[in-house]
Amino acid sequence: MRYLVTGGCGFIGSHFVRLLLTEDALCEVANVDLLTYAGREDNLDDIVAAHADRYCLIKEDISDAAAMKNVFRENAFDAVINFAAESHVDRSISDPDRFVQTNVMGTSNLVGLAREFDVARFVQVSTDEVYGSLGTGDVPFTETTHLSPSSPYSASKAGADLLVLAAHRTFDQDVVITRCSNNYGPCQFPEKLIPLMIAKAMSDDLLPVYGDGGNVRDWIHVVDHCRGILAALKGGEPGAIYNLGADCERTNLEIVREILDILGKPESLVSFVKDRPGHDWRYAINSAKARNELNWESKHDFESGLRETIEWYRSRG
Ligand SMILES: NC(=O)c1ccc[n+]([C@@H]2O[C@H](COP(=O)([O-])OP(=O)(O)OC[C@H]3O[C@@H](n4cnc5c(N)ncnc54)[C@H](O)[C@@H]3O)[C@@H](O)[C@H]2O)c1
Repeated sequence: MRYLVTGGCGFIGSHFVRLLLTEDALCEVANVDLLTYAGREDNLDDIVAAHADRYCLIKEDISDAAAMKNVFRENAFDAVINFAAESHVDRSISDPDRFVQTNVMGTSNLVGLAREFDVARFVQVSTDEVYGSLGTGDVPFTETTHLSPSSPYSASKAGADLLVLAAHRTFDQDVVITRCSNNYGPCQFPEKLIPLMIAKAMSDDLLPVYGDGGNVRDWIHVVDHCRGILAALKGGEPGAIYNLGADCERTNLEIVREILDILGKPESLVSFVKDRPGHDWRYAINSAKARNELNWESKHDFESGLRETIEWYRSRG
């Protein structure tokens, strides 16, 4: 199998490239990544050194139609797995166009090229944020929950999902979408909650917490997410959507307190700041379909996964 992984130098994409190369001794992986601020080649140094003959990095923009056409022309891909995205909600509030360009135009470009070059399967890596916000006590999102994105980020991801589903309905293209909850683990750029709070706490800076810290997210280990994507790639139904979550709801304040506790830092470092505009209150995800149809489940225990993650950041200073 020859895979095109996009965004493979980012947080989740790099774990997925690692999984493919280690678990499938025969596969080849081409990684198209623009290497924005969020992409780091060194996320893959060790794994690339061990499998250099089966891996290549192509520095391109997924929304560049001509450049990406050349990539498809020069490679006979069996599947495309699209991770490449602008992924930070706060950045989407200050620069929404960048998100439309990469997340919407980029995905449209890729799904069209996958069809033109007869790629057997297109996997779109999406997010539970497309469903919008839940109230306390609401039932978790299922795959049929109405899309109601709140931020330019989640709106651009919802737009991409709809284009991918339209390719299936209009052209009978083989596509699969995964929608996952918040990921944690090594290699995440320190702008999202967990790595940002670890970095601040390690250097005894104030930890900025939006609003009263009561917003709830469902946290999943990045490797569990990648195993879910792999299961969807191999066994998902054409045109299907699979929610991936870990039934691990925590408030932001609970997460921050746990990080401070593990690092032995005082709670006085917590600093409540003005809430993010349009800040979703709660995400919770029902993954029964993925468990039943893909035989997948989240395996990591959050507390030990968080300790390992903190240890990873600590080992890098
Ligand atoms: N982080 C999460 O908790 C989470 C949860 C659910 C879904 N997702 C989705 O998973 C995917 C990966 O998320 P992540 O957290 O690893 O993101 P990330 O920001 O860490 O990495 C994104 C990668 O995409 C690359 N990239 C950005 N724009 C590009 C472009 N125009 N062309 C080519 N490459 C480009 C970057 O260089 C980077 O390597 C995204 O699609 C995101 O929406 C993330």
